[in-house]
Amino acid sequence: MRRSDLPDDFVIGTATASYQIEGATHEDGRGESIWDTFARVPGAIADGSTGDVADDHYHRSAEDVSLIGDLGFDAYRFSIAWPRIQPNGSGSPNRAGVDFYRRLAESLLQRGVTPWATLYHWDLPQALEDRGGWMHRDTAFRFADYAAHVADQLGDLVSDWITLNEPWCSSFLGYASGYHAPGSRVGSRAAHAAHHLLLGHGHALEALRATDSAARVGTTLNLSSVQPAGDSEGDADAARRIDGLSNRLFLDPVLRGAYPADVLDDLGETAWFAENATDDDLKRISAPIDFLGINYYSRHTVASGSAPAAGAPASAYPGSEHVRFVKTGAPVTQMGWEIHPDGMVDVLRQANALAPELPLYITENGAAYPDRVDADGGIDDPQRAEYLEAHLEAARDAVAEGLPLRGYFIWSLMDNWEWAWGYSRRFGIVHVDYETQKRTPKRSARWVADFLRDAVPAG
Ligand code: NOJ
Repeated sequence: MRRSDLPDDFVIGTATASYQIEGATHEDGRGESIWDTFARVPGAIADGSTGDVADDHYHRSAEDVSLIGDLGFDAYRFSIAWPRIQPNGSGSPNRAGVDFYRRLAESLLQRGVTPWATLYHWDLPQALEDRGGWMHRDTAFRFADYAAHVADQLGDLVSDWITLNEPWCSSFLGYASGYHAPGSRVGSRAAHAAHHLLLGHGHALEALRATDSAARVGTTLNLSSVQPAGDSEGDADAARRIDGLSNRLFLDPVLRGAYPADVLDDLGETAWFAENATDDDLKRISAPIDFLGINYYSRHTVASGSAPAAGAPASAYPGSEHVRFVKTGAPVTQMGWEIHPDGMVDVLRQANALAPELPLYITENGAAYPDRVDADGGIDDPQRAEYLEAHLEAARDAVAEGLPLRGYFIWSLMDNWEWAWGYSRRFGIVHVDYETQKRTPKRSARWVADFLRDAVPAG
């Protein structure tokens, strides 16, 4: 496939996130985030590492912007570390933090790359977690205050804003399964946290628009294509539950202004929501956005199973502990995630059915593979290039079908700190040597650069 198979104004970008690349966690007045704390919990991170250095991007942003420009991307999606702007989660902005992102946005614009800024890619100021984090309604208002400061300080340079990245992960992995910061393992907390995150989105959206009337604002959800393993009623119900928790619990309030009743029932949270999620909240959460961002990686095939044994690890899907995730035998990436490009079209259709006019962007898609540096220093990763090509083909199919898909961002520009996996999973099209911080474009990066120039892909 070639780039010219996509519309001329189709945006192709690449994405990263602050804690995964920046390092410099204790410089220039940055406060502590929940990930600084969580990464130090013994056993929380597979390789025992932290993001203290990561890709040292804080000191190498000029080089990284050159790389983005040289590869030929139209846009770069990065995230702003809240604790660099408000070290303790409130108050006037920290100048050094603001200046870092101003310099970054300016240098992107100089290279003709459009900056897309995500306000929350999981690094909540620890000071706010100490007051309850996303379990606490006030965090939504703190988030709106931070958003207003950021829009005020960067609004002249950035027009494309994403409020939240993957609120499912922040709430379900952060508060129910404990795989992510802050590491809480109480199933009933997930939906409460999710509501406060979505409320934060609604208030931040309002604050961004009030501060910068030209802002284009959206939010990013991680959606998975979900299918039942077989024809039984039990399997259909398993698929309904997982689609409900992963997709509809977030899509419905944002696009329809209502929570899916069946999901609240599955969670046993109907009463809490009736009392705490007011009509006013839902009006704010569903206020019109300019686009929806979707992070798509994989498909879930699920079946009904038996209840988990006592002492089983906390579930990322509370209320669905008896659901089994089935391996289909299709190829998977190093994360164990099935490669299923058509699923990307499924989730685009699902979002489009709720909001037919709303522009959609794939704000992340990519793959981890166990890359090897060859004797000549090169990194030959044909599987990653194939993964990307297959998903760009799915993007082309989605557009051909009439879905309002307007762009696609590769996760990720470069290898980085993959949360609970630490440095043990590499998603970059550019290799990072963590000893020397040397960046080396992999074969997949060369494929992408050729694709972006609309040259015949090198394959
Ligand atoms: C989604 C997250 O937004 C990103 O931070 C993460 O690294 C990728 N998926 C890969 O897991």
